[in-house]
Amino acid sequence: MKDLTPRKDDLEPIEIASRDEISALQLQRLKWSLKHAYANVPFYKKSFDDAGVHPDDLKTLSDLSKFPFTVKTDLRDNYPFGMFAVPREQVMRIHASSGTTGKPTVVGYTRNDLDVWATCMARSMRASGTRPGDIVHIAYGYGLFTGGLGAHYGAEKLGCTVVPVSGGMTTRQVTLIEDFRATTIMVTPSYVLSILDEYRAQGLDPRESPLQVGIFGAEPWTNAMRSEIEQAFDMHAVDIYGLSEVMGPGVANECVETKDGLHIWEDHFYPEIIDPQTGEPVADGERGELVFTSLSKEAFPIIRYRTRDLTRLLPGTARSMRRMEKITGRSDDMMILRGVNVFPTQIEEQILALDGLAPHFQIELTREGRMDEMTVHVEAVVTHASADARKASAAALRERIKDVVGITVRVDVTEPEKVARSQGKAQRILDNRPKG
Ligand code: DLL
Repeated sequence: MKDLTPRKDDLEPIEIASRDEISALQLQRLKWSLKHAYANVPFYKKSFDDAGVHPDDLKTLSDLSKFPFTVKTDLRDNYPFGMFAVPREQVMRIHASSGTTGKPTVVGYTRNDLDVWATCMARSMRASGTRPGDIVHIAYGYGLFTGGLGAHYGAEKLGCTVVPVSGGMTTRQVTLIEDFRATTIMVTPSYVLSILDEYRAQGLDPRESPLQVGIFGAEPWTNAMRSEIEQAFDMHAVDIYGLSEVMGPGVANECVETKDGLHIWEDHFYPEIIDPQTGEPVADGERGELVFTSLSKEAFPIIRYRTRDLTRLLPGTARSMRRMEKITGRSDDMMILRGVNVFPTQIEEQILALDGLAPHFQIELTREGRMDEMTVHVEAVVTHASADARKASAAALRERIKDVVGITVRVDVTEPEKVARSQGKAQRILDNRPKG
């Protein structure tokens, strides 16, 4: 893989500013953001008043912990435009997250918000090793999902040639990457695996593809998966994080030269980690739930938003801004099996450690009597697809999961191509337990 470390001169000054400069900017912007939300969004006025706090109470960054949290249901309760802090006419774009139940969560952007977003995305892409003039193949979905358009305007801002393919039609994805000679691909890690399979199905060597950088996010993926993708394509695989409530992709991104967790663009998003049970902030380095406060957003300020994503904050390395460790999972995705907490990422790591298994898997939960059971459905690779080989792989995986994760599961190793594929975010958990 080529060394794609960006030149220091190409970075924005704030990316390598001192911590003091960053904190001073954050405090100034945080005061503005709290005032803006309080003055213009009835929901925030009420929630601050109920908690007995006022924007003027914020004297230092740590005073933020006196302010109340915002959660997803608050956004739903104010559907569709109740959380906007500017007249609707100033909102230049709407995005929404689908939500499996009920109404979607709606977010909005002013012209300036869109510009800040494109700047954060361009910064993320530069950190990933993408350069002006590169050809960028965007296979994140376009539409209400923030992935496609978020990546699109960032790539344009950086000065790239954008190929706005969106998700789906996997055969065509390969044709376009090859014919247009894309050097960067932006897509979910689970969908790039389908693209990888398609390369092989077409008899092409993915290591010979023009791709040099993959910018993968929108769902949890492990370092084991990173190695798998990097080796398969001979390209850098870099993690990008974001969520629509806070902006979209480009809230945090890894640097290609270190790949040691995601630098949070702290000049626009103030991170905290809290104990998910008590809501108390924990020190940097301790694990918990990630909470974000926007520092510059006009249309949709968000104060202390509980993301439900689990990680920890670490000091800056390649940039001055703090990093978040690769996300272990969402608290919603945590399964509890006979008292042991398990995330799909832990199962992913064990699958990728075995040669006979492909990285396509789903976890099914069922209930027998009073006991929850977990079945891991995972595909065999073509070279290990015989009944005997699959039986051996199943036994090996069962053993690893018992030893490393500490739970007893059933393992169903299927023939290749039998586990459902995603074209966007993978659905890892199938909960077939009786409802209620
Ligand atoms: O997934 C935005 C995005 C698009 C990020 C493209 C990266 C690339 P939502 O649909 O609102 O927005 O979903 C946000 O997805 O709270 C996390 O649970 C999960 N997520 C996003 N990025 C990562 C990541 C987009 N790199 C939710 N690692 C978040 C783990 C991620 N989980």
